[in-house]
Amino acid sequence: MNASTSRQPRRGGRSESEPPPGAFNPAAIRADFPLLETTAHGKPLVYLDNAATSQKPQAVLAALVRYYSNLNANIHRGIYQLSAAATAAYENAREKAAQFIHAPSAREIVFVRGSTEAINLAAASWGQGHVHAGDEIILSEMEHHSNIVPWQLLARRTGARLRVLPITDAGELRLDELENLFTPRTRLLAITHISNALGTVNPIREIVSQAHARGVPVLVDGAQSAPHIPVNVRDIDCDFFVFSGHKICGPTGIGALWARREILDAMEPYQGGGDMISSVTFEKSTWNETPYKFEAGTPNIAGAIGLGVAIDYLTGIGMDQIERYERELLAYAREKLSAIDSLRIIGTAKDRAAVISFVMDGVHPHDIGAIVDGEGVAIRTGHHCCQPVMDHFHIPATARMSLAFYNNRQDIDRLAAAIEKVKEVFV
Ligand code: ALA
Repeated sequence: MNASTSRQPRRGGRSESEPPPGAFNPAAIRADFPLLETTAHGKPLVYLDNAATSQKPQAVLAALVRYYSNLNANIHRGIYQLSAAATAAYENAREKAAQFIHAPSAREIVFVRGSTEAINLAAASWGQGHVHAGDEIILSEMEHHSNIVPWQLLARRTGARLRVLPITDAGELRLDELENLFTPRTRLLAITHISNALGTVNPIREIVSQAHARGVPVLVDGAQSAPHIPVNVRDIDCDFFVFSGHKICGPTGIGALWARREILDAMEPYQGGGDMISSVTFEKSTWNETPYKFEAGTPNIAGAIGLGVAIDYLTGIGMDQIERYERELLAYAREKLSAIDSLRIIGTAKDRAAVISFVMDGVHPHDIGAIVDGEGVAIRTGHHCCQPVMDHFHIPATARMSLAFYNNRQDIDRLAAAIEKVKEVFV
């Protein structure tokens, strides 16, 4: 099943107010997500924690059942028909993942558990060969812990050090400082495309071009960009790109590391085991080719196939349409939330996507989260795995709403009404 722009809404015929066939149709799209029909605390659920994970369309749920019902077998191992079919479906998902980010070749897509594992893989395997005592890795102050800690572990092992590009009080990168951070010892720049805590969209092409002018490769953390904007790694011109399946309507436990073929070919394996080898003796083992040498053991076959279906679903709608719709919805949410006195938005960058973090005078964010949950509205509260961002703003936590293309203005109105309840209790 495809989402869609082209198919008819599920219930009844088209009314005057509905978009014409072929247009972005939020109501029809929403009906594809069974979980959005559920309740929380007896009220219809409003799901606004999409930066943490997205909901799954029926097409993805059906693909998982179909896989385990009809196709389940181990891949790359059996000569029997079922194994060959499972292998073909898994490799077809790799093609889809490559097309989704416009990678030159599916052979450059390594399936991993998600963005976190992808960065750990790069830090462990690429880092081992390229980062030595005294070398430097540049990160930014707005990174998710998963784009800090793997580099910290590498630095500890090798004697390298991390250098940090600061952010402004609006939550934008201090690009004026970037030039000063490059030294002859800089080995990598690892940076997020879109901030999960602030929603800032970073000018990634400009950053990559500055790094490349100094001969420094760039890893882009696309965990929060892949769900919201079209991604083209050739256009960004980065060297590594990572994303998670579960944030783009796919299953949990699957994601991808993309890197240029020559980089992957030169990297050592990440983990040892079955499928990643070419030959094994007790004296010496040799490796399978890229990307298989990075996929030791039985992979998440169902997850990859589900991810492929999620990608079909998103591209069926069109990432450009998703971006346009979400930008409008975000503007509406910003206007609504800004009008609430005692609420302060954290992160006011000019270019933002999908996320609004906020605090309220005299109320701990966890209390905000608990009260709005009582109203059936799911948002995340906490440091969002970005403690350095919280430190920058001298706050312990924020409340954060994060959108997807299946949200609508009524969801935002429900959030705003729930925040009024918070005010009644606390302010
Ligand atoms: N990184 C995810 C978030 O921002 C889990 O919520």
